[in-house]
Amino acid sequence: MDKLVIEGGRTLNGEIAVSGSKNAALPILFASILLDSPCTFSNVPDLRDIHTTLKLLHLLGVPCTYENHTVRSEPGELIPEAPYDLVRTMRASVLCLGPLLARIGLARVALPGGCAIGARPVDQHLKGLELMGAHFDLEGGNILGSCEKLTGARIVFDMVTVGGTENLLMAAVLADGETILENAACEPEIVDLANFLVACGADISGQGTSVIRVRGVPSLSGTSYAVMPDRIEAGTFLAAAGITGGRLLVKNCPYDELKAVIAKLEEMGMSITHHPGGVLAECGQLGLSGTEVETRPYPGFPTDMQAQIMALMTVAKGASVVEERIFENRFMHVLELMRMGARIKVSGHTAMVHGVPTLTGAPVMASDLRASASLVLAGLAARGTTEVRRIYHLDRGYECIENKLNAVGACIRRAEQ
Ligand code: EPZ
Repeated sequence: MDKLVIEGGRTLNGEIAVSGSKNAALPILFASILLDSPCTFSNVPDLRDIHTTLKLLHLLGVPCTYENHTVRSEPGELIPEAPYDLVRTMRASVLCLGPLLARIGLARVALPGGCAIGARPVDQHLKGLELMGAHFDLEGGNILGSCEKLTGARIVFDMVTVGGTENLLMAAVLADGETILENAACEPEIVDLANFLVACGADISGQGTSVIRVRGVPSLSGTSYAVMPDRIEAGTFLAAAGITGGRLLVKNCPYDELKAVIAKLEEMGMSITHHPGGVLAECGQLGLSGTEVETRPYPGFPTDMQAQIMALMTVAKGASVVEERIFENRFMHVLELMRMGARIKVSGHTAMVHGVPTLTGAPVMASDLRASASLVLAGLAARGTTEVRRIYHLDRGYECIENKLNAVGACIRRAEQ
C-alpha cells in the first residue's frame, strides 16, 4: 500500500490540466452494455475505478480495451453476473443493473453494502425498475432482477439520486414506450450520459432539469464520444491555489459546472477568472476568510467538494460552517485535519471550523476519496511533513495527482507505507 509524503508550505504556481470525469465516465462505460456495435470513448481518466469497470464489463460480456485514455468496447454475448468481489470495491457497479435488464431482462448484481460515507442504499434504483416491470429478489447478498421487456413508466424519485437517475435513464432508452423521470438529478454527469446515449440513437429530452423524458428506441449503436472534464478534480485544483496562496491556470476546467464552488471560493477571498486558456485561480491579497457552505444536489454546492473546502476553512480567518446534506457520515476527514492542528467541532450534520494561522504536518489516514483530497490540500499548506496514508482511495479518483501538483511547485513523493 502506498502513502504520499508532502513537504508543505510551498506556493503553487503555473498551469495544471484536468482529466476526464470519473463520475461521468463510469455510467457512460456501463452504457456500452446497451449497444449493439463497437464504441470509442475518449478522455477516459486512467483511474482504478475505471479499470475495475472495464474488468466488470469484460465479465459481463462486453470486452473493452484501454489505451491512452481511450476505451474501445465491442458488443458480445451478455452474461448477467456482477460478482461481489468487484462490486464491493466499487459501488458504481450497480449501474450495470438498468442496462442488463434493458438488454436481456436478467441481472444478478451483488448488493453493494455500506461504505465509509454512509449506508447508501439503492432502493430508488429498484423501485424505478419495478415500475418499469422488473421483479427483484435478494439471494445470497445478490439482487436478482428479471423482466420480460421493460416498459415506460412515470417514476418520481423520493430523493435526488445521481446513480438512481443514471440507472433508470439507461433502462428507459430501450424500453417500450415513454418513461418520465421526475425529481431527477440535474448533475452535469447525467447530462453527459444523456448526450452520449443520444449520440448512440436514444430519444431523450430534459436532461439537466428535474424532469427527463425518454422515448424508448429498438436499438442503440456505438459512436465516438469524449467524456466531459472532471469538475471535482478541477475544483480541487482551484482550492489548491487558494490554500497555498498561489496562482494556477486550470486547463480544461468546466467553469459553468463549478459555479457554486467558485462562488464560495470567491467569497473566501480568491479571485477566479475565466480565460480562453483555462480558469485562473489566485489567492487574494488579504488571504482566505471563513464562509458557510451547505452541500446540495446540483446546482448546489457538491458534497464531493465539501472535504476540500473544509481544508481551506481550517486556515481561513474567522469562523466557517459546513452543513453536509447529502451523506450522513461524510466528516471522516475532520479528526485527521484536527491531527494537523485544525479547530473543528462537529454536531450532527454540521461542522464549525475556526481558522488557525497554520497547520502542522502529521501522519494522517485517508478514509475515502474526497477526504484524501482534503488531506493532500492540508498537507500542501502545512508547516513540515505530512504523510497521507491509505492513498488507494485517492487513486480511485485523481489521476497522477502528485505529478500534476509537483509540476506546479508542490513537493510530494509516493512511498511504500
Ligand atoms: C454519486 O454517488 C457519485 N458517485 C458520488 O461521488 C457523489 O458523492 C454522489 O453521487 C452525490 O453527488 C458516482 O457518480 C459514481 P446518490 P451516488 O445516489 O449515485 C441516498 C465521489 O467521491 N440514496 O446521488 O451513489 C444516498 O444514500 C463520490 O466521487 C438513497 O437513499 O449518490 C445518499 O444519501 C462518492 N436511496 C443520497 O441519496 C437510493 O436508492 C445521494 O446519493 C439512492 C440514493
